[in-house]
Amino acid sequence: MKNVNIAILGLGTVGGGTYEILSKLNKKLIETRTGINFTLTKVLERDMSKLEALGIDPSCAVTDPDLITNADDVDIVVESLGGIDFPADIMEKALLNGKSVVTPNKAAVAANFERLNKAAKASGAQFRFEASVGGGIPALTAIKEALAGNRFTEVMGIVNGTTNYILTKMGEEGWSYEEALKDAQKKGFAEADPTADVEGIDAANKLSILTSLCFDEYIPPEEITREGISGVTMSDIEEARSKGGKIKLIASAKKRGAILSYSVKPTFIPNDHPLAGVSNEFNAIYVTGNAVGELMFYGKGAGALPTGSAVVGDIIAIANSL
Ligand code: HSE
Repeated sequence: MKNVNIAILGLGTVGGGTYEILSKLNKKLIETRTGINFTLTKVLERDMSKLEALGIDPSCAVTDPDLITNADDVDIVVESLGGIDFPADIMEKALLNGKSVVTPNKAAVAANFERLNKAAKASGAQFRFEASVGGGIPALTAIKEALAGNRFTEVMGIVNGTTNYILTKMGEEGWSYEEALKDAQKKGFAEADPTADVEGIDAANKLSILTSLCFDEYIPPEEITREGISGVTMSDIEEARSKGGKIKLIASAKKRGAILSYSVKPTFIPNDHPLAGVSNEFNAIYVTGNAVGELMFYGKGAGALPTGSAVVGDIIAIANSL
């Protein structure tokens, strides 16, 4: 059986979920389906209790990323550290060394989109980041592959699970903002610093990635006009309900002629719009293409296994082509 060696950087929510799916939950199924055996050879992780909890051999642990980017026994690097510059530097090194990279790290991808894709092109390695937008929803691969024959005019999405969870719990259960945020943190949806979620920074990162793929135009995330949900009150939610709709944090980009406009902001969505039915940590990405028409992708946008599912999909796609 063909063997492909994997390194995982960071055993947090997504790194752990990825290992869980690849090496435990669906190991046999993946082997049968692909004819490939995946071996975890290296882990960049200081917290040995995380290795122990997942049953990973402690000898896999390294603390120097060069021992991964230069290693002969690593084919695919999974970067799930979080952060921006540090992980981006590691990913660039790995790509330049010919190792394919998979990451769910939207902040690092959005800030370094051009540099990382250039590094991949230079060495011929693959750079895949399906899990960076919409968690388990395979929208990026669909946009890049199945929908590649379309000119897109609009992309509109609920791309942050934490804020959608908070708005849903406030609107449907009457929870306070603080209570709902605390629960989203407990469930592992929120970023390490939830300001990134509630102020729309995370959604802007994801919109930057979507915009690059849909419109072939890179917009740095800091140039995206954004407003988060920290100013949304219970009375705003009740007013929206009385008008037959809901408030959702919407990331959108529209192309009219040569003009691309984009924003992240709380938006009134009428109940008869498909995005109004997207609740809790679920995400949805609604695209309009000139051939396909309107299309909506829907699924869990956060959490260990949904996001790990997208990472594993990328790993398998790369491994199949090695
Ligand atoms: N904090 C993010 C969210 C995690 O809530 O959507 C998934 O990107």
